This record gives sequence, structure tokens and C-alpha cells, in this order.
Amino acid sequence: MLKTRRAVRAYKREPVPENIIEDIVDCGRLAATAVNIQPWEFVVVTDPDALHRIAKATDYGGFIADAPACVVVICRDTKYYLEDGSAATESILLAARAHGLGSCWVAGDKKPYAAEICRLVGAPPGYKLISLIPIGYPAESPEKAKRPLSDVLHWQKY
Ligand SMILES: Cc1cc2nc3c(=O)[nH]c(=O)nc-3n(C[C@H](O)[C@H](O)[C@H](O)COP(=O)(O)O)c2cc1C
Repeated sequence: MLKTRRAVRAYKREPVPENIIEDIVDCGRLAATAVNIQPWEFVVVTDPDALHRIAKATDYGGFIADAPACVVVICRDTKYYLEDGSAATESILLAARAHGLGSCWVAGDKKPYAAEICRLVGAPPGYKLISLIPIGYPAESPEKAKRPLSDVLHWQKY
């Protein structure tokens, strides 16, 4: 299952039950985090107008508008906020896959629209946007070429 995760950017209209979204976010909550600080908050957006506004603010996240839900991962500005928030994001992607759902990591930190998204979801001052994660039942099964294990795995030394 872990190996079959792929970025899915087209979703069926069918809503995702709340208890499934809660379980997916719960997996983010339990991600590895430096010194167990857990600087994250997860804002789940399902309101279609809000989803449109979020999608419109991004550069490569227009498809968020057509997702039944989007998890917005924000973090307090701690030393390892980006690593922590990224660990939580990956756990959410994998949990979505385990539930038979499609999702896609949409940036995030470093994007000029980060402050606008934080404002749209009511993040407290000083919070950082880590990722936007649209989630829905997949309407596509994308394939991606991946570097082979023999290229990237190095025993003892590079
Ligand atoms: C930090 C980060 C930012 C990303 N931002 C976007 C984005 O803004 N829009 C998008 O469509 N995909 C985004 N992606 C998804 C990547 O394009 C995708 O993971 C990559 O093409 C590999 O495909 P795969 O996830 O199917 O293996 C992002 C992924 C990461 C890790």
C-alpha cells in the first residue's frame, strides 16, 4: 500500500465521510516530530466556496476547487516546523491512500500565497503554511516514472 501512493489531482464528487477524514488527520497528528513539539494544526475545509478561494490563491493547485475536502497543514514557527509539518503531510497522504482515497501534496511553505492561505483559514499570527492536501475518491490512476532502487540505494557509502 505504501508503494502505491501517487499524486491524484482528479476526484469524484462523492463526499468523504467525516470519520474517515478524522482518521486521516489523526495519522498526521501521530507523525514524527522533533523533541515531540507537535507544532501542527490541521484545518479541514469542505465548504465549496472556501475551497474555490483556496484553489484560486495557489499557482498549481487549481484542482483543490473540485475536491470534496482539503486538509491545510499549518505549523507554529519552531526550529523544525518544516520537517515536522512535512512528516505530518506525508502521513496524511499515506493514510488517505490506505482508505482508498486520492490526495496530492500542494505547496506550501516558500510560496508567495502562503500568507493568503493562512489568512483564509484563520491561522493565528506567525503560523507557517506547510501544505494543502486535497482529498477525494480518485477519478484517475496516474503513473509516475520512479528512479529504480538500484540507483538510489547505497550500502555503506555512496
Ligand atoms: C513539497 C511539494 C510540493 C508540491 N507542490 C505541488 C503543487 O503545488 N501542485 C501539484 O499539483 N503537485 C505538487 N506536488 C506533488 C508533486 O508534483 C508529485 O508528488 C510529484 O510529481 C511526484 O509524483 P507522485 O506524488 O505521484 O509520486 C508537490 C509535492 C511536494 C513534495
